[in-house]
Amino acid sequence: MKANMITIAELKQKIAEIKSQLEADLIQNLAKEELRIKFLAKKGLFNELAKIISQVKPSDKKETGQLLNEVKTEITESIEKSTKSSSDSKNKWVDLTAPGIKPKTGHMHPVSQAMEEITQIFERIGFSRSRYPEVDWDWYVFESLNMPKNHPARDEWETFFIDAPTDKKMGKVVLTTHTSNGQVREMERLESKPPIRMINIARCYRRQQDATHTQMFHQFEGLVIDKGINIQNLKGTLDYFAEQFYGPGTKSRIRPFHFQFTEPSLEVDFSCHICHGTGFLDDKTETPEDQRQKCKFCKSGWHEVGGAGMVHPNVLKAGGFNPDIYTGFAFGWGVERTYTLKEGLNIDDIRLLYSGDLRFLEQF
Ligand code: PHE
Repeated sequence: MKANMITIAELKQKIAEIKSQLEADLIQNLAKEELRIKFLAKKGLFNELAKIISQVKPSDKKETGQLLNEVKTEITESIEKSTKSSSDSKNKWVDLTAPGIKPKTGHMHPVSQAMEEITQIFERIGFSRSRYPEVDWDWYVFESLNMPKNHPARDEWETFFIDAPTDKKMGKVVLTTHTSNGQVREMERLESKPPIRMINIARCYRRQQDATHTQMFHQFEGLVIDKGINIQNLKGTLDYFAEQFYGPGTKSRIRPFHFQFTEPSLEVDFSCHICHGTGFLDDKTETPEDQRQKCKFCKSGWHEVGGAGMVHPNVLKAGGFNPDIYTGFAFGWGVERTYTLKEGLNIDDIRLLYSGDLRFLEQF
């Protein structure tokens, strides 16, 4: 046997190598055209192999020929069966004018959207946003707001107390129950120099949780102090906010109430922007009320939103202002409620807002 002669066993070995190479390429999902070039073209792997025929013993030629024919058929069939064509990727015609596929993007949480909008509305009339601690001294949350220790008015704010050392003047540390803690803090920040036009938006905490309350929620608080500030300025500001946030024609209404830190104190309502404050969806004013179509959203034409009033002289004093010279107004209420009202949402469980459920959040 000549030195460079090839046996049938060696040939079979080479055939096996080519086949496993093809198998690997099929798994890799190479395109048909590529496979044809690699295996079946003039300089492809099969023709390279076929050259072997000149190196086999004359007696093996017949078998070699058969084996080569078999493998060629096998390779051809496997390639034809493969599903991937290069037109799937490389040479595919692309319509560059077709609208693109929108990538999935997130968006701001509805409560953040509301805070952003509230901030902008007040900034347009000269308020500036401030931020104060959400874990604060009793002094700022209650005492400086005309609520001495053990005053029964404190009961209304179901307070979380922090297990921390008590300060002689500042008292205990609490989770802020309302954003009113920003009032005296803002007066101190501006060194009791008017004018003050603050909008304070922050998290608040109260020890109650049910379908309409979450233990953590947000409030926004307005505070204006200067010479000659009166209740008309407050009413004008509320009307301005109502129109800006809820749309043209929305009005505010104030009713007498009680807070320790304002005098007089008021409760604020906004007219329903669905029935425009009438309580009815039709305008048949002549028809008896029980036959008219009632607004299901507000039931009465108005939505109660929060508290307001003229800053109590004791609070001005606590912030270093002379109440004989300066007056001010304040208001404050929940961001969540303000927002759901705007969307016309009767959310039966406010906890949904903080559930992190995308099916809910994606709607805003
Ligand atoms: N802080 C009050 C509350 O949480 C609201 C309020 C703010 C009332 C400012 C009057 C003035 O209910």
